[in-house]
Amino acid sequence: MKIYVTEDYQGMSRKAANIVSAQVILNPSSVLGLATGSTPIGMYKQLIAWYKKNDLDFAQVKSVNLDEYVGLPPTHDQSYRYFMQTNLFDHINIDPASTNVPNGLAEDPEAECERYNQIIRSTGGIDIQVLGMGHNGHIGFNEPGDAFELETHVVDLTDRTIDANARFFASRDEVPRKAITMGIKSIMQARRILVVVSGEDKADIVKTAFTGPVTPKVPASILQMHPDVLLVGDKAALSKL
Ligand code: F6R
Repeated sequence: MKIYVTEDYQGMSRKAANIVSAQVILNPSSVLGLATGSTPIGMYKQLIAWYKKNDLDFAQVKSVNLDEYVGLPPTHDQSYRYFMQTNLFDHINIDPASTNVPNGLAEDPEAECERYNQIIRSTGGIDIQVLGMGHNGHIGFNEPGDAFELETHVVDLTDRTIDANARFFASRDEVPRKAITMGIKSIMQARRILVVVSGEDKADIVKTAFTGPVTPKVPASILQMHPDVLLVGDKAALSKL
């Protein structure tokens, strides 16, 4: 694992954007695995800025997102499709047909998981997967459990994740209880993984995930087994490593 420590969130965003843009410059038809959440927003802003300066071209890039809430339409301002449109896709020249987010409105969520697995396979594999980390060590919506779930699946969100996400909804009751998420195997099959973390509140889980035992009770701990992980964090988030 390579660790990049930055002064603050701004620096973390810039470093992570540098890594993604290096990927896109070296391979213009890269497959990017993308994440939502607060942490990567600054990275997306930086990528947009470099695109607008003509330093980046996303015309041939494909993307697959980690997850989506079950029951939210793409137009809902808390759906992850909406997040990706407004925080990245609407501002760059990626082909809309080349962007993939699980369909939260699929009538049969299990069939949607299978369709999503096929999409991931049909891209030829993810070149770089961006990951944020939950305070309980979740990656995507792979919550702590007794086993690592392998491929795309439907999950019941834990109370802790519902609490953490409630800030984005009018009330806790409105937070969806289920999500579709890429599984641990799909994430681990990415050729390279870029983990972004910021803030003191992530310091404990960063330490547990990267220096503790590999266990499904801390899903991010599996990343210790991946041969090419880049951990980019500000000094507050990495303070306990
Ligand atoms: C996002 C995702 C989540 C977040 C995690 C951290 O697509 O799957 O695992 O990466 O909850 O979220 P933030 O960045 O808001 O702390």
